[in-house]
Amino acid sequence: MTTLARRNGGKFPEAHVLDILRNGVVIPAHGLADMPAWGTDSRLMDTFNPSQVSARITELVNYLKSQQAK
Ligand code: HEM
Repeated sequence: MTTLARRNGGKFPEAHVLDILRNGVVIPAHGLADMPAWGTDSRLMDTFNPSQVSARITELVNYLKSQQAK
């Protein structure tokens, strides 16, 4: 998780991380991996409203960004 930027030419892949947190990890030809996805998990959607879900995803993206190895 701390080498996401390093592995992306030194730039934190914000849109990629946002997409994965919202929609989950899609393995080509195998569909969704087991990673829980905030935007589609009904347990999360029942607990939080859509704007709370977006706010939490944004906070998590910013946290991961702040943890990148130099
Ligand atoms: C707050 C918790 C989590 C965060 C922030 C997170 C974040 C991420 C991110 C950003 C990626 C993409 C990595 C990349 O593109 O190199 C990823 C991939 C993945 N995550 Fe998570 N994840 C979390 C929890 C989980 C859990 C609980 C599971 C499984 C039960 C899981 C399973 C996976 C899998 C299988 C991949 C694909 C790995 C790969 O491409 O090699 N994640 N996760």
